[in-house]
Amino acid sequence: MKNFISVNDVDDINSLVTKGLAYKANPFADRNLGADKRIGMLFLNPSLRTRLSTQVAAEQLGMEAIVFNVDKDGWALEFEDGAIMSGNTVEHVKDAAPILGNYFDILCIRAFPSLTNKKDDYSEQVMTAFKQYAGVPIVSLESATLHPLQSLTDIITIKETFKEKRKPKIVLTWAPHIKALPQCVPNSFAEWINAWGEADFVITHPKDYELDEKYTKGATITLDQDAALKDADYVYVKNWSTYTDYGRIYTNDPAWMLTNKKLATTNNAKIMHCLPVRRNVELSDEVLDSANSIVTQQASNRVWAAQAVLSEILKAKK
Ligand code: CP
Repeated sequence: MKNFISVNDVDDINSLVTKGLAYKANPFADRNLGADKRIGMLFLNPSLRTRLSTQVAAEQLGMEAIVFNVDKDGWALEFEDGAIMSGNTVEHVKDAAPILGNYFDILCIRAFPSLTNKKDDYSEQVMTAFKQYAGVPIVSLESATLHPLQSLTDIITIKETFKEKRKPKIVLTWAPHIKALPQCVPNSFAEWINAWGEADFVITHPKDYELDEKYTKGATITLDQDAALKDADYVYVKNWSTYTDYGRIYTNDPAWMLTNKKLATTNNAKIMHCLPVRRNVELSDEVLDSANSIVTQQASNRVWAAQAVLSEILKAKK
């Protein structure tokens, strides 16, 4: 694997999942693979799970991990080609990225969308520029449109917990929120589940919350949450803002928040969420604190997804 920016960088999802689960069973199996290698982790936005799980994964492979909070400690970066930099930006990515490529063997970047400029966000301006100018493998720690480390984790968690000899029914449901959130997690989850092809996949959301068809094509899409939930084995809960009329909140109808009553028609479904979650807004206490919730197991598996990805990149570099 050369880079890890979307599912398209992965040759075989199941083999990457197996690798992640093997690291979970034996975290230090490749403790020397990354010896004398350094990973740079650039954050343009906050993080808890992605930052720490990737750092732990890198260290378990013998790498040194250096975290740089660009948003707080770095110069304001410019990404526009040909920009006249007389505004707030101080350093062009063309200048910064090659230097970082000389400091690090792998460069990981978190850069959220603006949610104001759909064209820029969906062109993945930041990730594309680092890939173009850094000269080393790039790993997405969540980009403007996708969160592939999260999605790999999600499939690892589903594979780990689903024991039946049939396809699981997986439902991705929109949930209310007070802020306009990116489409990254649902886009990426849909992209990965569709590419994986081993689930009966349903997406449910209110009217006008359609995601980009590029990611959802292949899923059953319905505006009827109750119908979607019937017989579900997994319910993945996530808010997102509107995609078509970009970055807006059309509703935060609390009727869309999952409760135990709503889950009664499921197949005793396991509940997933990428976290962080606003309790009793996006997801109720009674569901989050129930035995059906696997959000802690899911978040803990972030380490094994990151370790599998970094290991593949290190092996490809040798
Ligand atoms: N799920 C996730 O990416 O969590 P963080 O934003 O805390 O990294």
